[in-house]
Amino acid sequence: MPRTANIPTTHSPSLRDEAGRRRTFAVISHPDAGKSTLTEALALYARVIKDAGVTHGKSSRHGTVSDWMGLEQERGISISSAALQLNHNGAVLNVVDTPGHADFSEDTYRVLAAVDFAVMLIDAAKGFEPQTLKLLAVCRRRGLPIITVINKWDRPGLESLGLIDGIAEQTGMAPVPLTWPAGRAGAFTGLFDLRRGEAVRLEAVRGGALPSLETPVTGGPGTLNAQWQAELEEAELVSAASGAFDAAAFHAAQQTPVLFTAAAKNFGVRQLLDVLAELGPAPSDRSTEAGGYRPVDAGFSGFVFKVQAGQDAAHRDHIAFLRVCSGVFERGMTLTNARLGRPFATKYAHRVIGRSREVIDLAWPGDIVGLVNAASLRVGDSLYAEEEVRFPEIPHFAPELFTVARAADPGRYKQFRRGIAQLEHEGVVQVLRSDRRGEQAPVLAAVGALQFEVAQHRMAEEFHAPATFEPLPYSLAMRLETTGARPPETFRGGEVLHRSDGETLALFTDRYKLEHFREDNPGLTLTAIGA
Ligand code: G4P
Repeated sequence: MPRTANIPTTHSPSLRDEAGRRRTFAVISHPDAGKSTLTEALALYARVIKDAGVTHGKSSRHGTVSDWMGLEQERGISISSAALQLNHNGAVLNVVDTPGHADFSEDTYRVLAAVDFAVMLIDAAKGFEPQTLKLLAVCRRRGLPIITVINKWDRPGLESLGLIDGIAEQTGMAPVPLTWPAGRAGAFTGLFDLRRGEAVRLEAVRGGALPSLETPVTGGPGTLNAQWQAELEEAELVSAASGAFDAAAFHAAQQTPVLFTAAAKNFGVRQLLDVLAELGPAPSDRSTEAGGYRPVDAGFSGFVFKVQAGQDAAHRDHIAFLRVCSGVFERGMTLTNARLGRPFATKYAHRVIGRSREVIDLAWPGDIVGLVNAASLRVGDSLYAEEEVRFPEIPHFAPELFTVARAADPGRYKQFRRGIAQLEHEGVVQVLRSDRRGEQAPVLAAVGALQFEVAQHRMAEEFHAPATFEPLPYSLAMRLETTGARPPETFRGGEVLHRSDGETLALFTDRYKLEHFREDNPGLTLTAIGA
């Protein structure tokens, strides 16, 4: 399929240039690996959020990055996925936030549909942790290039070579170190920039409140002390094993560049920022549902990867986060929603960072725009200005948690139904139904427990229909092909339910029940749900 099939392009050099400057990525990590600290450290160097990083830490972050919902404030967690925009060396970095909580939500996964690459952050003492592995799996399925960052090198941790082996094993990509620490984990005294052939001594300034002090070590490798020399030889060994950095192999997700940081001290952060700006892939022509490509310099198009509602109880606020795929977004333009064939006016377009909103007048491919008054938009919607386009649906993810929802007050059943329908529409939770359970008791399904908390909170606060949630013992969902034999409604250790997109799901308490089901129902086909 030709990449420019029948789609007129504006051939605007400035559009290609603007798109070419964008670096749109998400940081994926396990909670506590230092994602927020690193994001703030990047912002400190790029100087975008004023005073960001003056004091690192959860307490100081409240009110800066994200805390807009009552629930969020109570729990001190981040539910919102907003994008932070940084400028560095001529590049525009869009850091798309993934919810930073121990729980997954489908939004965490959906963000990965909106970015061009990911930064995988690993705690030097812990190596690969479960949430990192789950997110990594989604990145791999999407073919996203990944930059690996080993953080907290200022604390005792694992051996660098062991970590590098782990990266090769877990990611299936060849790890190519671009920086290498002088000093073991816990003794981070300097850094080799292997790309530039430079070595610097590092000192934290005011505990990480200011950029770290870098003193070049001059005079060539011969002047390094024995310890540094040994570390450098180690780095060279790894480089020899992995081969030189190759941009094409990185973009094809065959190589992963590796950098070492101590985000809390701002060690290695400047080097990471340089790598993001210089080597991070820019937005490229995007695949369409029809199997072609939408060139970045075609007319405006984008898709919604997240819908957020209820931040402001007084205003019934709906914000849809749109990733620009092609063309220029100009606030005020009228777009068409490809799903509905209806116009959508963009009078209100914002960049949303926590509670603060900044009006966006112009946005380019790779940028994230928050569209306000977006009650008609849902996750996966494609919007365009002139030439029609539909981008592929963002896949549903296999839910792992299930709960039965019921109206706490039967007198408010109408509001209950409306609330559940709205939460389903926005993709807050998946809603599963069966004749046996009836409309009064739908099953809500989620990837992370946080989704249920948000749903329950909004049912009470926004729809005035407090709901009781009764957890179900299932942990596994499979798609059930229903052609031919009629599936049982229930069976030992599971049941069959339907989603409004027409999918039928079978839920199981565990793998054994799944195997029994297969043996008992040879005429039915189960397939994995996945990205
Ligand atoms: P997250 O967003 O990935 O969940 O992690 P976050 O940045 O909140 O960092 C988790 C903890 O790890 C924080 O400590 C933070 O200061 C610390 N941290 C992050 N990067 C580094 C690093 O490079 N070196 C060291 N030594 N620590 C790091 P906390 O105790 O939870 O908070 P605080 O009291 O330090 O603010």
